[in-house]
Amino acid sequence: MKKLRIAVDGPASSGKSTVAKLVAKDLDLIYLDTGAMYRVATLVALQNKTGDVQKIISIISQNPISFKNSQNGQQVFLGEEEVTDVIRTNEVTNAVSKISAFPEIREFLVAEQQRIASNGRIIMDGRDIGTVVLPDAELKIFLIASVDERAERRYKENLAKGIPTNLEQLKVEISERDRKDSTREISPLKQAADAILCDSTGKTIKDVVTFIEEKVKELSEHRK
Ligand code: CDP
Ligand code: CDP
Repeated sequence: MKKLRIAVDGPASSGKSTVAKLVAKDLDLIYLDTGAMYRVATLVALQNKTGDVQKIISIISQNPISFKNSQNGQQVFLGEEEVTDVIRTNEVTNAVSKISAFPEIREFLVAEQQRIASNGRIIMDGRDIGTVVLPDAELKIFLIASVDERAERRYKENLAKGIPTNLEQLKVEISERDRKDSTREISPLKQAADAILCDSTGKTIKDVVTFIEEKVKELSEHRK
């Protein structure tokens, strides 16, 4: 089992988690959704009506974040409580950039992400994986798509789930979250110097998965 750590970074709804899960399955890697971890921290802040970072960290320390693979995809837990759906609500989505900008929250979650990655075979998606969490990852992908296409993807996803959504509002919210994530002082969303850019505008999920798996193949050819 060769070491293979893949970092997938990019803006909101660029398809990171969808493609990362498929690559994980094909290549037998652990998949870690780091965005879900920041969403859980945000949920804790909202549920406890607090912006006190030490309190948020202490609650998560006592109720660790965990993931379970099920037939319906990956489930997310805060201690014993399943939070898979509640971390995707608009309330959490619109507050997450604020909570994820706190240095102490990032330090705490990054340490946990690095611990999970120490098994050596993992694909992780987020904003700072290639730059901060796994700066020496074997492969780094920076996945982008136009704001219009990303909003349309999220819109269709919400429609399928029966969540009423306004497309224009979605565009504004996605752009705003990108702006906050890219301009924050600590670990902003940024393409690592050695990351490969993949523009998925007009591309299918399969196209992107194939692109990444080709890069893995090139990597193993190179290592021979
Ligand atoms: O899936 P979506 O693109 O909507 O976002 P996500 O990956 O679930 O991430 C939610 C939020 O968590 C982002 O907007 C960032 O503010 C934050 N995040 C981060 O700061 N660093 C990461 N490695 C992952 C997510
Ligand atoms: O994780 P991230 O926020 O970057 O995006 P996602 O939740 O994986 O993907 C957002 C939506 O875009 C999902 O409904 C995907 O099925 C869809 N999509 C995609 O991920 N990639 C494409 N090339 C086309 C559509």
